Amino acid sequence: MKTCYKKNEWLIVEDGFHPEMNRESESIFSIGNGYMGQRANFEEFYSGDSLQGTYIAGVYYPDKTRVGWWKNGYPEYFAKVLNAPKWIGIDVSVNGKRIDLASVKIISFKRILNMKEGWLEKHFSISVSSGKTLEFHSRRFLSMSEPDIGVIKYSVRSDGFEGTIELKPYIDADVKNEDANYGMKFWKEVDREACEGSGIIVSRTLKTDFYVATGMCYNLFKNQKPHVIKASVISRDEYVGNAVKVNVKPGDELTLFKYAAVLSSLNNSKTKLLSDVRKRLKETLDKGYNTLFIEHRKEWDKIWACSDVEIKGDIAAQQGIRFNIFHLNQTYTGKDERLNIGPKGFTGEKYGGSTYWDTEAFALPFFLKTADQKVARNLLLYRYKHLGASIKNAEKLGFKNGAALYPMVTINGEECHNEWEITFEEIHRNGAIAFAIYNYIRHTGDKDYMTDYGLEVLIGISRFWWQRASWSEDKKKYMILGVTGPNEYENNVNNNWYTNTLAVWTLSYTLENIARVKKENPARYRMIIKNTGFNAEPEEANWVQVIKKMHFPFDASRKVFLQQDGFLDKVLMPAEEIPAEERPINQHWSWDRILRSCFIKQADVLQGLYLFEDKYDTATIKRNFDFYESMTVHESSLSACIHSIMASRIRNIGKAYELYLRTARLDLDDYNHEVGDGLHITSMAGTWLAIVEGFGGMKIVDSKVQVHPLIPEKWTSYSFHARFRGILFEVKVNHKEIIITNLSDKQLKIYVYGKECQVNSQGWKMIKKPN
Ligand code: BGC
Repeated sequence: MKTCYKKNEWLIVEDGFHPEMNRESESIFSIGNGYMGQRANFEEFYSGDSLQGTYIAGVYYPDKTRVGWWKNGYPEYFAKVLNAPKWIGIDVSVNGKRIDLASVKIISFKRILNMKEGWLEKHFSISVSSGKTLEFHSRRFLSMSEPDIGVIKYSVRSDGFEGTIELKPYIDADVKNEDANYGMKFWKEVDREACEGSGIIVSRTLKTDFYVATGMCYNLFKNQKPHVIKASVISRDEYVGNAVKVNVKPGDELTLFKYAAVLSSLNNSKTKLLSDVRKRLKETLDKGYNTLFIEHRKEWDKIWACSDVEIKGDIAAQQGIRFNIFHLNQTYTGKDERLNIGPKGFTGEKYGGSTYWDTEAFALPFFLKTADQKVARNLLLYRYKHLGASIKNAEKLGFKNGAALYPMVTINGEECHNEWEITFEEIHRNGAIAFAIYNYIRHTGDKDYMTDYGLEVLIGISRFWWQRASWSEDKKKYMILGVTGPNEYENNVNNNWYTNTLAVWTLSYTLENIARVKKENPARYRMIIKNTGFNAEPEEANWVQVIKKMHFPFDASRKVFLQQDGFLDKVLMPAEEIPAEERPINQHWSWDRILRSCFIKQADVLQGLYLFEDKYDTATIKRNFDFYESMTVHESSLSACIHSIMASRIRNIGKAYELYLRTARLDLDDYNHEVGDGLHITSMAGTWLAIVEGFGGMKIVDSKVQVHPLIPEKWTSYSFHARFRGILFEVKVNHKEIIITNLSDKQLKIYVYGKECQVNSQGWKMIKKPN
């Protein structure tokens, strides 16, 4: 566990230069605004180890699939969000020599991420000759109010140095992805212009033909006064820049404000990109740094006012949860239904920036409770728009009649994943997408969503479940054979309890809603029938059969649900018996050994109990928790959070807290030694859920919002914000009482420990904690 970052409530601070950890810090200190993202790469030249990462949401390249053994049904490509033209670059030369942060003599170094206001700062000083130093400060942000704009305030101050300093702001479009399957470059320059004060490059992606125009402009100050000076203009293939050379004396300070505008053909016409960027640069320069910064900060204020979690008495936990909330909001703002949330967000290349089931199972519940309902709705619409592609995905695998199999990994609806045991078998993802519709409606009350969009998706998914289930004449039961559950340490198993449970639930929920829409909105019902070709006779009857006769593996002696058929044939042993030096097992054991073992990568049966907890009593949840938790190695970042929530459900606060700690600082403390690849954005939502749904016990049952708070021993108090049906409220918990504050203009009715509590608009109520 690495802990080089200082503990602070709102800041992440790296004190001292740690080149051996540069990739990790580049991920941790990433910034984003939902529209684009930027790893914490240096502005200056750096020849050391670094993963360059500038990302534009939705701009991707279909990289030709590379597999050892091709299988029918594999996708042709893996869609990757691209490392885009670099807008942050500012080269610095001192007396004609370009400084390289990897070789220059660094005296002091600090990187700061301010999560409250959404900016990244870097301060360092270097020795230029004996006793003479230069001090550098840079602050940058990706504007939350104007998402196509990035801003850097960059200054150099001379401490005893006299000579020339040259600053060279530039755009470099000669960029690659480290994870390119065939080492290819994905961009081609289309247009370029450079003049004194600005430069623009228009690049296009190969195959997908996205056009991106990246422009920069700047102004220069010397000792806080505008410094107008002739710049040399640099323009060569895939590069534009300006160089300004200034003579400085001891005590002088140069400040360069660099503004970047990044526009893409996702939102702008290709033919006007160049002129649009010119216009945006001018508007940005006119507005200036201070106004842009204030507007940006106000957006962050709004975000925190709806989503902050405050923890007293545990600074590490406080920093951890804010870090998670911060990154989630940097990754997705919900303004564009074509965008989604990759497991690594904008912080690395791994997972291609594509959409996984993580979105519905983890990220959506977070946004549902912290953001305007439009945000979660856009996440649902993303899948609705991919219904046609999902039907094609299913057809490719041999399904018919409008059955939809949503992809395991996607950007545009087409499946991109190519490991047979996941692509073809990890079909539980379909259930998460169905459940998300239900979850959205129970939180927001927006029943029209079902009529307008949801039902068509549910019909497609239900058709898939019906076709995927097979009848066992021997057992007189329906089976779902050859699957991989959420626990990817088991492949090709029969009757994964979680998958079968979701399948049956989806079928029932779809039938229930078909009946409702048919009754309440016959015109729309007819339209849905027409769009989907739904044939109530025999489809409904078929589905009812699967609901009634599905097989669910169960151990009658232990009274636990079995993860899959045959699970008990394994040698069962607790994960604590695995020697420490063999953990994580996925880095030490052969795949064969993992598959045969009883060890569980991530919540599986417990994932199902989490979704459907109201169907099961506490004793059932406890038996399953005790059985599975002991064998779970939590080698997916999506695991400990769910186990923590379930531990809270059975009121085992010690265990819930222990599991919470594993998730809360997963990236900050780099538990899995992989932060250099990027952060675990989707699991960050799980951490938040572990507080709100776990410790806070927030849930929605029968259209009523409930809380059932617990508090970890170590914390003095904690509070969280949440929304229910348009009402924003705050729950504050200490060891004696709960305070509910209604932050909306409507009356709040909430159930606290099962008792109804009415809170007036803008009012609050205090409830004593039961013993
Ligand atoms: C997990 C999956 C998850 C993926 C992306 C894998 O390690 O097992 O459940 O979808 O990571 O986060």
